[in-house]
Amino acid sequence: MLELLPPPPTDPLWELTAEFAADERPERLNLVLGVYRDHTDRTPVMAAVREAEIRLAERSESKEYRGLSGNAAFNRVLPALVLGSQVPADRAVAVQTVAGSGALRLLADLICRTRPGTTVWISDPAYVNHRPILEAAGLTVRTYGWRDAQGGFDAEGVLRELRGARRDDVVLLQGCCHNPTGADPTLDAWEALAELAVRGGWMPFVDLAYHGLGDGLEADLLPTRILAARVPEMLIAVSCSKNFGLYSDRTGCAIVLGASGRALRHAETALQNAARTLYSMPPEHGAAVVTTILEDAGLRADWQAELEVMRGRIEANRSDLTTHLSALGCGPQARALARQKGMFSMLPLTAAQMLRLRREFAVYGTTSGRINIAGIPGHRIPRLAQSVASVLGGAPAPRLLEGALGN
Ligand SMILES: Cc1ncc(COP(=O)(O)O)c(C=O)c1O
Repeated sequence: MLELLPPPPTDPLWELTAEFAADERPERLNLVLGVYRDHTDRTPVMAAVREAEIRLAERSESKEYRGLSGNAAFNRVLPALVLGSQVPADRAVAVQTVAGSGALRLLADLICRTRPGTTVWISDPAYVNHRPILEAAGLTVRTYGWRDAQGGFDAEGVLRELRGARRDDVVLLQGCCHNPTGADPTLDAWEALAELAVRGGWMPFVDLAYHGLGDGLEADLLPTRILAARVPEMLIAVSCSKNFGLYSDRTGCAIVLGASGRALRHAETALQNAARTLYSMPPEHGAAVVTTILEDAGLRADWQAELEVMRGRIEANRSDLTTHLSALGCGPQARALARQKGMFSMLPLTAAQMLRLRREFAVYGTTSGRINIAGIPGHRIPRLAQSVASVLGGAPAPRLLEGALGN
């Protein structure tokens, strides 16, 4: 029977990652996936996470099933972290999910169960998995532009296009550190989006994957809270992969804000039913770690301090790359880069130039031009800037390196 299977499409990001793994050039640099690396090029377990794991190991008594919504305490503390004190707890229900991707999928299922074929608007460009997840759940996808000609957020264009969203549509918005562009709305633009949602009657669906890595935890959560305070109904997919460094523990949360207790109860059951048919229930470990951190004031402060260090490193990387590009005569490109936020930036390169960057300089980013700013070891920035400038037609190519770089 399997002989009948036509060749399926492969995931472009993981394909590039495999290509990188097979590349033997010592100067190779992997900037494809959104993973934080420290100055030694490692993705460390955060110290607060390590401490929470030790405490959990000491008191762990049972690995009994937790139920379809996962860890109940996690489902209280995570929405409180995201929504702050302005949103009353009885306006929201939450279900622990298999990371941010699982939250996106469960919420997409919820939309489909509520109204099959609903149109969900996503940005263009969008996170590479938004369209596949929404379409796999049976939803119709439409796009709205995101960037202006200078690579910044196009407030006027986005508001104009979203005036075309209908009352029953859903609009997916990344709450901060837009992937892949790094271009975020100002707070005024968020207010205008909230106003448009109220007037247009469409429901915001916020994807939060990078809070804490843009302007700081509270500042990054503000847009979500602005929306939550204004609209009657809203969906939020939260990932703990990046800001807790729990990538492989697959930890996340689907939050639903509703106008009535009855609607919220139904939404929670629908999310549980969706989970039941997909994977029954989420893994416990990461949720227990996050709960242990958020429930202990000292550990929580330690985690936030570590998150700030990560954020600072990303900012320093972006600023260094900008300085080096400017010095190599790429001022306009550098200025666009400097305004972006979070783990990613878009290099102003075409697909062909990104291919050259990979072939000639062993620098791996996506064909759309996206690079993971958080993944550049500091000492590699001058060479990266030289490679980009060379592809842009400015600086001479960097010398090929002999021997290992220690990555
Ligand atoms: C915008 C966005 N949303 C969601 C996710 C999903 O993250 P995860 O499933 O690893 O938590 C990602 C991952 O890169 C992302 O960039």
